[in-house]
Amino acid sequence: AKTHHHDFVIQATPVKRLCMTHNTITVNGQFPGPTLEVNNGDTLVVKVVNKAQYNVTIHWHGVRQIRTGWADGPEFITQCPIRPGKSYTYRFTIQGQEGTLWWHAHSSWLRATVYGALIIHPKEGDSYPFPKPKRETPILLGEWWDANPIDVIRRATRTGAPPNVSDAYTINGQPGDLYKCSSQDTTIVPVDSGETNLLRVINAALNQQLFFSVANHKLTVVGADASYVKPFTTSVLMLGPGQTTDVLITTDQPRAKYYMAARAYASAQGAPFDNTTTTAILEYKTASCSSNCVKTNPVFPSLPAYNDTATATAFTTKFRSPRKVEVPTEIDENLFFTVGLGLNNCPRGASSSNCQGPNGTRFAASMNNVSFVLPSNFSLLQAHHQGIPGVFSTDFPANPPVKFDYTGNVSRSLWQPVPGTKLYKLKYGARVQVVLQGTSIFTAENHPIHLHGYDFYIIAEGFGNFNPKRDTAKFNLIDPPLRNTASVPVNGWAVIRFVADNPGVWLMHCHLDVHIGWGLGMAFLVENGVSELESLEAPPVDLPVC
Ligand code: C2O
Repeated sequence: AKTHHHDFVIQATPVKRLCMTHNTITVNGQFPGPTLEVNNGDTLVVKVVNKAQYNVTIHWHGVRQIRTGWADGPEFITQCPIRPGKSYTYRFTIQGQEGTLWWHAHSSWLRATVYGALIIHPKEGDSYPFPKPKRETPILLGEWWDANPIDVIRRATRTGAPPNVSDAYTINGQPGDLYKCSSQDTTIVPVDSGETNLLRVINAALNQQLFFSVANHKLTVVGADASYVKPFTTSVLMLGPGQTTDVLITTDQPRAKYYMAARAYASAQGAPFDNTTTTAILEYKTASCSSNCVKTNPVFPSLPAYNDTATATAFTTKFRSPRKVEVPTEIDENLFFTVGLGLNNCPRGASSSNCQGPNGTRFAASMNNVSFVLPSNFSLLQAHHQGIPGVFSTDFPANPPVKFDYTGNVSRSLWQPVPGTKLYKLKYGARVQVVLQGTSIFTAENHPIHLHGYDFYIIAEGFGNFNPKRDTAKFNLIDPPLRNTASVPVNGWAVIRFVADNPGVWLMHCHLDVHIGWGLGMAFLVENGVSELESLEAPPVDLPVC
């Protein structure tokens, strides 16, 4: 196994998009940031130097970080932010994961522009469980704001209103042909005809689930979230923010150019969303087509309607592990978490300019009615490791405080999220089941729920209220998919299982950044086991302090 050293300089860089040049926060002046390539078993050492004017941290999305929680990256969870002018070196080893992950800033809305691909090839000497692709191309789906994204979320936080939606979606940083001033920079994916290539599709958008399709080409799904899956063929993908999907594509078509395109899967009824479409071009270099086809316009793929939940869910429920896997059959912790939005009444005496949500409220979100609040003087992991009292409590509820018809027509008075920094404690090795139950308070929506430090099996999902009597029969304990981000269906539920074998403090949250900003998250505190190999490593000497 190798050790890879990288320097990430966080800096403001002029980037021109949609006819305007913006001073954009980037890594090493690149947007999107550098692609990191490693083999399973390798170690990464990334020195992050902050030359920007904002606090920053980097999260290695989906990396298990076994015993190395100090390198996970979420601000105030596993570390204090890297202040302007300071640096921090992330050091971790890839253990047992192969496929596509990514990295992104985990501080305010910086990840709008601070992100990149993390590609994990098979262990040295091993091969893919499919024929070796001729080319491999990362496809990073993103979201672009004309305004500074940090200002967008600051304004929303101040006013209590929803933030402005984005001005474009992007593929590898470029909006593409359908946007103003963009066509000359459209991303080109060069191919030769008659080859099978691997597209590593990553949804790095801040706030939007996306459909993705390539005109006239079938996509064979072979992996997701750095785990292989039982291959299946589809013409459209749906990815929630945070999710990755590896697909094989065979270049067997006669024309020279085909569009690939992505646009919103917007599951929330009536909520505003960016309704634009981003494109890139799959360009055949050798003409297997007759000479005239080179001049024809590229063919456009058909994408589902923005509210096509049937297609989105049919896709997300197709995933299976390639073979029988070891899902815990017994469980030690049976948890039931509601995930959803809400509205908070304005505090007494608050000015109306701070209460710009519906009917003078403020937007909020919660799990089990707790709106997650980050600490500000310590990271949770540091507070846990050093035994600092008063930073968090460990009374995160195992069940919602009141039971009701979660996906029915509920009155919001039932459900005013209460702010808190509450963790749920797990013994080392505990076998955990979490039912993630979507709610319809204020509006129902498909929530991409991401767990740090773990992959989990998604053993079932469905619509309506989870009913243990009826729905336990649907549990797949044979070959469920292993993921780090689950799309909890709009007005529905998903059940996940994992073994708590990685000590530390691990955030679980909705990967729509606006929702985590409103509190849609919680954290697990996983205790050390008995031996050193079951315990969190000592913190690095350069760990930032608050
Ligand atoms: Cu990809 Cu907590 O995030």
